[in-house]
Amino acid sequence: MKTIIVYYSLDGNTKQAAETLAKAIGADVCEIQPVKPIKSAGKPTFRTIMQGGGQVAFGLCPALKEFSADLSQYDRIILGTPVWNAKCASFVRTFAKKYARQHNLTDKVTAVFTLSGGGDNTKCIADLKTMLPKIGATVSLVGNTNSLSADNEKKLAEFAAQLKQ
Ligand SMILES: Cc1cc2nc3c(=O)[nH]c(=O)nc-3n(C[C@H](O)[C@H](O)[C@H](O)COP(=O)(O)O)c2cc1C
Repeated sequence: MKTIIVYYSLDGNTKQAAETLAKAIGADVCEIQPVKPIKSAGKPTFRTIMQGGGQVAFGLCPALKEFSADLSQYDRIILGTPVWNAKCASFVRTFAKKYARQHNLTDKVTAVFTLSGGGDNTKCIADLKTMLPKIGATVSLVGNTNSLSADNEKKLAEFAAQLKQ
């Protein structure tokens, strides 16, 4: 099965998980790139939380740049997102709500990994499932500002094993 990991990352945690997972399952990787990016400070700051959180609060779907891969060539898409205001990042919402629909990719998205500050992705997954109903396997990872991130490696390995079945 030809698989691609599609992800957005502001501060690098989701990017790192995407790359580790890609190696583990032999998948390609494609980054979601906004037309107007939020500038990263390497970790959440008042400014990035206000900017990104504001977009989520209003349910915005900010414009994305062209994807670097032809996603229609893949059988399966695994989505990676930071948790923003208990939901997916605004740019991932654009992918889920608009791009995937317009390009007939919705049913190909069958797995999701999330990166959060606190470790709870319940609402984020529930929200994503309203847009991407075929989501099955999920894993909740934690950003590197939290000591719980020490468990990410093990959780990702288990997620990879699940995806290889
Ligand atoms: C706009 C914004 C909103 C956030 N909201 C939450 C949240 O609701 N819950 C949480 O646990 N972490 C929240 N965080 C923290 C991020 O989920 C966490 O830092 C994650 O590791 C970021 O992934 P990234 O490095 O790939 O950008 C938020 C961060 C930002 C920038």
